[in-house]
Amino acid sequence: MCRAWRCPIHKRLEKFGRKVEEAMTPKKLPANLHRDTLAVRVAEDKSQFGENSEALFLTSSFVQPDAATAMRRFAGEEEGYMYSRFTNPTVTSMEKRLAALEGTEACIGTSSGMAAIMLMCMGLLKAGDHVICSQSVFGSTIKLIGSEFGKFGVESSFVSQTDVAEWQVAVKPNTRLLFAETPTNPLTEVCDIRALADIAHAAGALLAVDNCFCSPALSQPTKMGADLIIHSGTKYLDGQGRVIAGAICATKKLIDEKFVPVMRSAGMTLSAFNAWVVLKGMETLSIRMQAQSASALALATWLEAQPGVARVYYPGLKSHPQHALAMQQQSGMGGAVLSFDVKGAGPEATRKNAFHVIDSTEVCSITANLGDTKTTITHPATTSHGRLSEAQRQAAGISQALIRVAVGLEHIDDLKADLEKGLRSLNALA
Ligand SMILES: Cc1ncc(COP(=O)(O)O)c(C=O)c1O
Repeated sequence: MCRAWRCPIHKRLEKFGRKVEEAMTPKKLPANLHRDTLAVRVAEDKSQFGENSEALFLTSSFVQPDAATAMRRFAGEEEGYMYSRFTNPTVTSMEKRLAALEGTEACIGTSSGMAAIMLMCMGLLKAGDHVICSQSVFGSTIKLIGSEFGKFGVESSFVSQTDVAEWQVAVKPNTRLLFAETPTNPLTEVCDIRALADIAHAAGALLAVDNCFCSPALSQPTKMGADLIIHSGTKYLDGQGRVIAGAICATKKLIDEKFVPVMRSAGMTLSAFNAWVVLKGMETLSIRMQAQSASALALATWLEAQPGVARVYYPGLKSHPQHALAMQQQSGMGGAVLSFDVKGAGPEATRKNAFHVIDSTEVCSITANLGDTKTTITHPATTSHGRLSEAQRQAAGISQALIRVAVGLEHIDDLKADLEKGLRSLNALA
């Protein structure tokens, strides 16, 4: 006998002669909707209250109707929510929406972007397996794959982001995974997803792409052959710098067989609250990405003309070495992150100059995060990539001269004026 609680709304609806089930039956979305529509519409079914904005299920566990149902659910024989370490409707809503935007069958939320990479490695690799990774990926990713998983006997090779031949040469009989991030943080190098997917598949391996910089608004890597997509939901998916979150998007088979069991045992769980914030953030993802990419292009073009700037790294610029590839892979947009080298003689002088430009800003936030509506500015060599050895940093091309700007939604003229203050007074420092 089901011990369903009779809520007052049920009772009132019944009093008015309507069946609750009829009143709250979810409308099924038609097929072939555009991504902008999916971004605001895909979610778990509404609760019996018919909320328009998706509900936040802030609960650790779910009451089971009876012991036998609990047994079947815990054994995986029946669907149903049980315990929020591995099942929560708000997290499911976030996962369904992100999978819809990426065009993948399934998605699994994680507590952070790094937790997504850890879950991927735990689910796919064992001692003796080999990973090929771009040497230009996010610093913590290099540490996690190279050092932390190295401790458990996972071999790794770090290769050029852009030289496809280097990836091919690095393949070994025990290669199980190729990992790339495109564009990279902070130098915005773009890799050829299709070419890397071909190398991975010919070797019987999988290709994972960290799609944090583009987000599905600009690029869907599985359409170009990637098998897994990694997200830091902390970045553009939330888009307002509020929460730490992550996700893996892939086939249902990979998610169900490789990642859900590890999540259930290891618990790198996305909290319901953070999932809800990311879920709502995704509703404005597309328009934010378009606006922020347009501002980034304007700022990058302006920076190229500044006397204190030695070089600008931005895929939307014609001067970017992979400009054509980026336009093809990223819906014709460069994304919202750019970097630039300030001029100076030698590492010490350039670091001083970079710090001066950063410290002269009054609008930009000096912080290592990116993907916020507030423009952020950072010195990668001493922050996000500060834990790398000098050799690793040099291999990644990150010098003391480099400044990264993740462009937000402020007026472009205010951003130019903010950077101009430090750039204009650089000569006075020499
Ligand atoms: C490209 C990229 N991937 C992954 C991460 C890690 O994400 P999180 O901070 O959510 O763990 C970051 C963080 O900056 C990143 O820039």
